[in-house]
Amino acid sequence: MHCPALPDGFDFTDPDLLQARVPHPEFAQARRTAPVWWCAQPPGISGFDDEGYWAVTRHADVKYVSTHPELFSSHTNTAVIRFNETISRDQIEVQKLIMLNMDPPEHTRVRQIVQRGFTPRAIRSLEGALRARARSIVETALAEAGDDDTFDFVTRIAVELPLQAIAELIGVPQEDRTKIFDWSNKMAAYDDPEYAITEEVGTEAAMEIVSYAMNLAAARKECPAKDIVSQLVAAEGEGNLQSDEFGFFVILLAVAGNETTRNAISHGMHAFLTHPGQWELYKRERPATTAEEIVRWATPVVAFQRTATQEVELGGQRIGKGERVGLFYSSANNDPEVFTAPETFDITRDPNPHLGFGGGGPHFCLGKSLAVLEINLIFNAIADVLPGLRLAGDPRRLRSAWLNGIKELRVSPR
Ligand code: HEM
Repeated sequence: MHCPALPDGFDFTDPDLLQARVPHPEFAQARRTAPVWWCAQPPGISGFDDEGYWAVTRHADVKYVSTHPELFSSHTNTAVIRFNETISRDQIEVQKLIMLNMDPPEHTRVRQIVQRGFTPRAIRSLEGALRARARSIVETALAEAGDDDTFDFVTRIAVELPLQAIAELIGVPQEDRTKIFDWSNKMAAYDDPEYAITEEVGTEAAMEIVSYAMNLAAARKECPAKDIVSQLVAAEGEGNLQSDEFGFFVILLAVAGNETTRNAISHGMHAFLTHPGQWELYKRERPATTAEEIVRWATPVVAFQRTATQEVELGGQRIGKGERVGLFYSSANNDPEVFTAPETFDITRDPNPHLGFGGGGPHFCLGKSLAVLEINLIFNAIADVLPGLRLAGDPRRLRSAWLNGIKELRVSPR
């Protein structure tokens, strides 16, 4: 099927395009004229042997693919649709140790173990500590801003809570926390030339996290504490993670739980400050529906992918066995078939069946409740401590092929 309005070679994951904006007009065009559309990629860009991927842009189709793992495998590589340089086979093999890139039954076994650390009770137990953290992060940002100064919302506020939440969850001691943050930044941001991070540095950072986490696991096995590490590795065997499995799980948390939530918070703040009516409403009523709308609006993960396990029809297209399929959550979350006035930021939107945490199915975001809690806690604290916050410049965006990221957002405290 031809998509008349998009030029040949158009790629929704082009970091230059995503750095400037999320391609909403192009998504709208694709949804209308070619909802499952072949995006050709020049050799070497995809990192795979093929020459492109199917871009899935409608809400219903993204859900369908996500909930049919027997037709669409996660095994090849879920997160990366486009690389700057060719990925080696070895790197793909390593990525398969991360649960995001596993299929049932292997995935089912790991997921059953790790979700013990994410029960409603486990998340509730973090609430008190995270509430105090959120408050102190915002108060510190205010105290350090000076009288009429401006500060960067991303580094002063958005970065901190997600990092602390994961560290709290897995019991990382305070003195090691900035190391984890630094490594996870390096892994996720190597596309952005400003960080001057090569793929080698990213891989090295990933290995450092694995080895840090394996040491943590070994220490907790010796001397269990009241944290998720102790629960997951308490005894080797069927119902527990091996130390190296735990290491790869921590890598996933460091990226999946850190960069995503940070960008939801930064985009949420930007949305509030550019929609003052919604900010006033939030400060007055604090609607329980707020966090879900922030995630729909921000859609921090632009897209993930699957690979067809057999020939299958989708959106009027015949997808061949082994072909890659990109699930564009950014497009699904703006599908007018599902959302009334999707271009409106409305914190009272209810229902809000957005796919920002995935399209359902076995890989649905494990950390959703934690992310929603963090977003609620930080905006509550900001509304209490910085009610007069104002925008002091345009956001600077992250250059990435899959993250809808903000690098810098200058604000003024009053
Ligand atoms: C998976 C988004 C926060 C842990 C995912 C997926 C998405 C996503 C799109 C993939 C779903 C799929 O492939 O079907 C987000 C967003 C977040 C967020 C937008 C914040 C606003 C978190 C947090 C954690 C976390 C705070 C944990 C601390 C995970 C894990 C997976 C995952 C472990 C893999 C699950 C699996 O493969 O079974 N997330 N996430 N996420 N997320 Fe999140």
